[in-house]
Amino acid sequence: MTKHRITVARGDGIGPEIMQATLDILGAAGAPLDYDFIEVGEALYKEGITSGVPDSAWDTLRSNTCFLKGPITTPQGKGFKSVNVTIRKTLNLYANVRPVKSYYPFVADSHPSINLVVVRENEEDLYAGIEHRQTQEVAQVLKLITRPGTERIVRYAFEYARAYGRKKVTCMTKDNIMKLADGTFHQVFDEIAVEYPEIENDHMIIDIGAAKLAAKPEMLDVVVSLNLYGDILSDIAAEVGGSVGLAGSANIGNRVSMFEAVHGSAPDIAGQDLANPSGLLQGAAMMLVHLGEGEIAERIMNAWLKTLEDGVHTGDIFREGSSKERVGCKAFAQAIIDRLGQAPSQLESVAFGGAGIQIDVNRVTPQKKDLVGVDVFLDWDEVGRDPNALGKALSEQAGPDFELRLITNRGVKVYPDGMPETFCTDHWRCRFRIVNDGTGDNDQIVGLLQRLGASGLDAVKTENLYQFDGQPGYSLGQGE
Ligand code: NAI
Repeated sequence: MTKHRITVARGDGIGPEIMQATLDILGAAGAPLDYDFIEVGEALYKEGITSGVPDSAWDTLRSNTCFLKGPITTPQGKGFKSVNVTIRKTLNLYANVRPVKSYYPFVADSHPSINLVVVRENEEDLYAGIEHRQTQEVAQVLKLITRPGTERIVRYAFEYARAYGRKKVTCMTKDNIMKLADGTFHQVFDEIAVEYPEIENDHMIIDIGAAKLAAKPEMLDVVVSLNLYGDILSDIAAEVGGSVGLAGSANIGNRVSMFEAVHGSAPDIAGQDLANPSGLLQGAAMMLVHLGEGEIAERIMNAWLKTLEDGVHTGDIFREGSSKERVGCKAFAQAIIDRLGQAPSQLESVAFGGAGIQIDVNRVTPQKKDLVGVDVFLDWDEVGRDPNALGKALSEQAGPDFELRLITNRGVKVYPDGMPETFCTDHWRCRFRIVNDGTGDNDQIVGLLQRLGASGLDAVKTENLYQFDGQPGYSLGQGE
């Protein structure tokens, strides 16, 4: 049998204990794995490596396709980077996958009917980390949503549903407000959904979707969403599942993928043989399925379910009355090993099909792109902040190429025909359209900016206005 070589980091706090328990179970179940151990996290931070990942670890991380990671303590304070974020971004781990399932009544705090998977886009959106302070009063962050990034995560969600026998994929966005950014995500979802006719699909606005996840999780099966919403949804799901100590997660990339527990390093119980290894074991099971070793993952997870069902519980899930035996981390692992080959009688057994999901992304078919104007953002703080005075000054500088269409403040139209009640900051978006609804070029914009600068106006940023195949590639202002 060919063995898979994987990278392992034991992690900090309870990491070494739960990793040992997990490796013991993997070994007893006959998982065909060889390990390369690396050290990342706290010890490295102490040596002054602010990323928590030494140079020597990267070669190992890149040469093996899977990384099983114990939880890492992230030092508080400036300068330290989270190991998770560093690895996720560096290795292009685009999909964060977090299944949450109820083990009620054996795990008492779990919502009786939750059984869903959150598939979160992991690299884009507001997490691209592009932020600017532009005026005394205004800071901005760029929300970047790309077509290939969206296509990859949405395809992953459908492929996951297919591989794991899931029935429905629900997309959650806020495209009633962000028609272009979230609209792209929703549109790509609709395009891809038709390629999976056997899987039901629907879309929910994120606010009601999150509320449904909290109150009626049985409505949901696979949920796919943008990075920020997915981050929040994953935590709601873990909470509703009542089992932060039980959930695992996968960070999937096209070459390398990382598997771990959802929880942190739990320094309060470290070194006391109290930790529940189930979250990391779930991560390890996801890794086995990813490696095409679904049968071994099934063997392990069914023995684990039987252990829960038999009431053999670590302290975090032990409840007088429903639990039978309170055990430590080592004894819990042994209880699972003793039950390998058995299946639960009341909880549903698991069955995993499929292997590692590889997603290829199509190149976007180019559309005709025409420059039709520019939004110039101004830092302008004249006494009274009168939009009509600004409108007059800008119209005088528009020149022969442009006409001033509108001015907005925080997205609200204040010129022409603004309302005196609208609160204005020092940050103004001024929309110039090429005259006669025509098209233009960058030189004309440079000319406009020079005229504005010469008249003492402070342009802090511009956004070109493009039409793609004749459709505006920008949000329209009121009355446009
Ligand atoms: P935590 O998840 O480590 O602990 C929260 C609570 O849950 C604690 O009371 C802990 O004892 C308990 N708990 C967690 N896992 C458990 C388990 N397996 N068995 C039994 N009880 C368990 O969260 P906290 O305290 O906010 O973070 C501690 C450290 O972990 C921080 O440095 C944080 O940055 C880091 N962290 C790392 C993560 C990772 O590496 N993926 C994820 C989350 C936090």
